[in-house]
Amino acid sequence: MRAVRLGAPASLDSLTPTDLPDPGDPGPGEIRVRLVASSLNFHDFAVVAGMIPTVDGRIPMSDGAGTVEAVGEGVSDFRVGDAVVSLFFPFWADGAPPQHAFTQVPGDSIDGYAREVVVTPQHWFTHAPKGYSAAEAATLTCAGLTAWRALFVDGVTQPGSTVLVQGSGGVSVFALQFAKAAGARVIATSSSDAKLERLKALGADELINYKDVPAWGAKALELTGGRGVDTVVEIGGAGTLDQSMVATRVGGHVALIGVLAGIVGPVQTALLMHKNLRVQGLTVGSRAQQLAMIAGIEANGIKPVLDRHFPLENLADAFRHQMSNTHFGKIIVDI
Ligand SMILES: NC(=O)c1ccc[n+]([C@@H]2O[C@H](COP(=O)([O-])OP(=O)(O)OC[C@H]3O[C@@H](n4cnc5c(N)ncnc54)[C@H](OP(=O)(O)O)[C@@H]3O)[C@@H](O)[C@H]2O)c1
Repeated sequence: MRAVRLGAPASLDSLTPTDLPDPGDPGPGEIRVRLVASSLNFHDFAVVAGMIPTVDGRIPMSDGAGTVEAVGEGVSDFRVGDAVVSLFFPFWADGAPPQHAFTQVPGDSIDGYAREVVVTPQHWFTHAPKGYSAAEAATLTCAGLTAWRALFVDGVTQPGSTVLVQGSGGVSVFALQFAKAAGARVIATSSSDAKLERLKALGADELINYKDVPAWGAKALELTGGRGVDTVVEIGGAGTLDQSMVATRVGGHVALIGVLAGIVGPVQTALLMHKNLRVQGLTVGSRAQQLAMIAGIEANGIKPVLDRHFPLENLADAFRHQMSNTHFGKIIVDI
């Protein structure tokens, strides 16, 4: 089967298409999945660029979607022909995040889905949403579930809530779509007016260009009549947290997801305390949360926003496109 491996030292130039032995038939409790698509996350870029250390020869990519080709003895959840999507944490079934799950992430600490076929325990996948293509399903593993958890597991987004989403990448566009489906009002930011127009077309109620308006937190506060937003989907990290806290209402929630604007920085602790804010870090979610997200997607007919497609053999070009920051939504890898 065809696959892409990451050599050492990690870099985009170390991504090498290769032939690997077929993984064979599934054993008891296992499924054999023909992978059809993956999608890019900043996390995958961090692995292939060497920011997150991994082993020489790692198969990258956390997201994988495809079709069940064979099922092993005792498999009850899946049948041959089922459309499936992978889990970011295959060892986190439900409940609070277990520490051991963080050490077994496909495409990072174990092999991922930049390959044609995989044989895994059945609980490493869930059914894909009905009516989804494999490319659409492959967007859910990391970006989709992270946005879902921020809003509906850690957050309390409901009709009438106000949510602020930062930028137009994978997580943020999902957060916009999910928040609108829940009846929330959405304030969207971007560095690009053209992208803001696309966010508006997806339902964003208020738009702020964060390059033109560096004090965008105060602008968001103003747009809410001085009350502040209920939840910020914080993908910037150190460089954006101050503005996010300014934007958030007293007692509100900042879902600390990403670090695109810096890993370390000063925090206005007095503001954090004074506003009684809840700043909560999160990493993706559990299998139970993925099942809940898929039910929510099916009930609301939500479809992900797909950017460009790249063939598996050109995976490095897909990452170069991601680095260009011209993408909107999810970049797809066709396997
Ligand atoms: N904790 C988790 O479980 C988890 C899961 C998924 C992702 N993440 C993290 O979340 C972040 C986003 O991931 P992604 O996969 O959605 O990335 P992505 O698709 O590559 O998103 C990139 C977009 O982020 C926006 N952006 C960059 N810097 C910004 C800033 N200073 N302020 C506002 N927006 C900014 C830009 O939007 P515009 O071009 O519109 O300005 C850019 O196009 C990354 O740090 C990633 O590691 C964490």
